Amino acid sequence: MTTVDIRASQPYQVHIGPGLLDQVGERARALWTGPTAAVVSDSNVAPLYLSRCTASLEAAGFRVVPFVFPAGEASKNGQTYLALLECLAEHHITRADGLVALGGGVVGDLTGFAAATFLRGVAFLQLPTTLLAAVDASVGGKTAIDLHHGKNLAGAFYQPKAVLCDPSVLDTLPPADFADGCAEVIKYGMIGDPALLDILEAPGPLDVETVIARCVEQKGRLVEADEFDTGARQLLNLGHTIGHGVEACSGYAISHGKAVAIGMVLITRAAVHFGLCPAAVLPRLQALLEAYRLPQSTEYSAQALYTKTLSDKKRSGDALSLVVPTTWGESRLHSVPVASLLSWIEKGLQA
Ligand code: GLY
Repeated sequence: MTTVDIRASQPYQVHIGPGLLDQVGERARALWTGPTAAVVSDSNVAPLYLSRCTASLEAAGFRVVPFVFPAGEASKNGQTYLALLECLAEHHITRADGLVALGGGVVGDLTGFAAATFLRGVAFLQLPTTLLAAVDASVGGKTAIDLHHGKNLAGAFYQPKAVLCDPSVLDTLPPADFADGCAEVIKYGMIGDPALLDILEAPGPLDVETVIARCVEQKGRLVEADEFDTGARQLLNLGHTIGHGVEACSGYAISHGKAVAIGMVLITRAAVHFGLCPAAVLPRLQALLEAYRLPQSTEYSAQALYTKTLSDKKRSGDALSLVVPTTWGESRLHSVPVASLLSWIEKGLQA
């Protein structure tokens, strides 16, 4: 078992190790005093893990209120959010009770936003069941729902009371979803952990617990330095700015992790062109993405990507903060005028 301390304004711990799913009851007991735990999950995860989670909570004396919604980003909306709040109200959840997010990023974001706003704030616990949620979405307190105008447009910074990451639940993850998480793991290596890149490049099976812990440790440091995402935390956006354009151009048919992989290649190629990154970084990144079955190119035009990328909320006024690799295992923020983004994308697409 590995434990990582997250020193946010509300400090908490991320526990990583097999068996945690069956310990959720006893661990929740130490986190809130009320008699009830509302477990939020989706139609993919609930059939696999809801009964084990419920059994653990009931064994610890909790009354369990389940809330299960159809899996997928399309559910991360105001309708599901309000239905969850109504469910909490109907079952008389009080500020002494808590919520458990059992699922991937959609479940965690939605549950966190409900926890932040129901009764002006109730406790919640993250139990991530995807690699992507384990290394990123479950840690750091970003909670949100999507609006018709874009993803994550309504949300709050609201930290969980704890994160329980049981890597054994990743065994049921479809290979494409595991690859999505690997894109975020590679991102952590590229922004500041060359030793993680060594681990990823080494032949043989991955020690998933070690890999998750390294990512969470780095995320914890960035959240501690910049909880509200005005500076250092933005390093986590490597590959995400142009990746957002790729996702949006595909109507979200291209998954987040695959879009981030493509975004990392494009930004690295452009950084090499502009003399900000040594040329050798690009083929090494591409080989790593290939090893983890992640894409490296897109058919969308520079103009189409530019238009969609500009609709992303990461933009601020006339400037855009790009995350640019500066060497193998290190990146930095690079402010560019919005007007020059098109040429970055053009250089990124040039084979
Ligand atoms: N997912 C990026 C962040 O938490 O800041």
